[in-house]
Amino acid sequence: MNHKDNIYSLIEKEKDRQLRGLELIASENFVSSDILNVIGSILTNKYAEGYPNKRYYGGCEIIDKIEQIAINRAKKLFKANYANVQSHSGSQANTAVYLASIKPGDIIMGFDLSHGGHLTHGASVNFSGSIYRSIFYGLNKETGLIDYEKMSLIAIEKKPKLIICGASAYSRDIDYKKFREVADYIGSILVADIAHTAGLIVTGLLNHPFPHCNIITSTTHKTLRGPRGGLILVGNDFEHEKSLKKQKMSQLIDKAVFPGCQGGPFENIIAAKAIAFKEAMTKEYLFYAKQIIRNAKALSKSLMDKGYNIISGGTDNHCILVDLRNKNITGKEAENILVTADITCNKNMVPFDNKSPLITSGIRIGTAAITTRGLKENDMENIANWINEVIINKSNNLKIKNIKNEINNFMKNYPLFNNKILN
Ligand SMILES: Cc1ncc(COP(=O)(O)O)c(C=O)c1O
Repeated sequence: MNHKDNIYSLIEKEKDRQLRGLELIASENFVSSDILNVIGSILTNKYAEGYPNKRYYGGCEIIDKIEQIAINRAKKLFKANYANVQSHSGSQANTAVYLASIKPGDIIMGFDLSHGGHLTHGASVNFSGSIYRSIFYGLNKETGLIDYEKMSLIAIEKKPKLIICGASAYSRDIDYKKFREVADYIGSILVADIAHTAGLIVTGLLNHPFPHCNIITSTTHKTLRGPRGGLILVGNDFEHEKSLKKQKMSQLIDKAVFPGCQGGPFENIIAAKAIAFKEAMTKEYLFYAKQIIRNAKALSKSLMDKGYNIISGGTDNHCILVDLRNKNITGKEAENILVTADITCNKNMVPFDNKSPLITSGIRIGTAAITTRGLKENDMENIANWINEVIINKSNNLKIKNIKNEINNFMKNYPLFNNKILN
């Protein structure tokens, strides 16, 4: 670190990094300037434990209106009857849902982390795998698709109290109806975690979990392009038995979020979520969401044309999982070498990977962020070329430096931080 660095100078450096590079991390995006302004607003000063009109602090009259707008817009956008917009993150949203609906020691069933699931879906290193007894479903080795048949056999045998579907690294749409059939058969609660795909679901481009799933959790900062945060939704509210008492699921979730696992909500973030929900209802956002998928399909095809093995042979969403085992490079090496050319993506386990999560055999690529920058299908061939050239010239520093310069010049045509969506 340069001894003259301070937080402001480092923010400028980070801004330069974001501007000049190709952002291919599937869980990242660039928020609009409206959202950025609201995140940095004085709303951050206010404590507001509780919910609109039921607060534990004075002076919440205006905050109440803001949070109510966010709730109303979330319900409209996701076609839900109930929304809680307070979770600080996607992980906190999942924590609250488990707390609301099951007891410690109960069995939960999630998507195997090494096949594309998330830590909070029962991984042993996460609270979800230590407080609850977790079992997993995964992918079919041949097709790279969720093995629904095996999932139902495991579920019927082990009878989890809660099944969670949704993923961090799965490039295909999800058949929520198949999960519902199994959940009905064994009487378990069905949760969809749409952290990655929320923006593609609300625009009707991917299957909607409602009415099949009882509860939806999400982040607001990936394809949805809002501030960093979490969200919980219930389609049709229902009575649920917890500790011998029947209560509405919506009430159980409200209590689980606060006071169950959080204190004061971040009202600046909640206001920014409200803006993101409104942006996601616009025609411009629908064009954006369609372009994300078009870009992902084009990039996936260009990579396959260059001999890259794409898990499941393509993508339905924003995400591409590349198996590098035929390319003589690990996921870790690829991530590191790509970053030197200002291409940012992350190493990722591929199904049936024999390498550790810190090394991995693959990389995960997403198109949500570059689509916000304005890149289109015909730019994807260039990106695939750059990725390939960097990987095959991994020891050629000069070649990589030239590619980095090309990328930096190219990205000057796509300015950031002025992607104002609503006035
Ligand atoms: C499917 C899924 N759920 C939950 C999360 C957790 O979100 P957060 O990082 O906001 O806790 C993620 C984030 O990567 C995710 O991919």
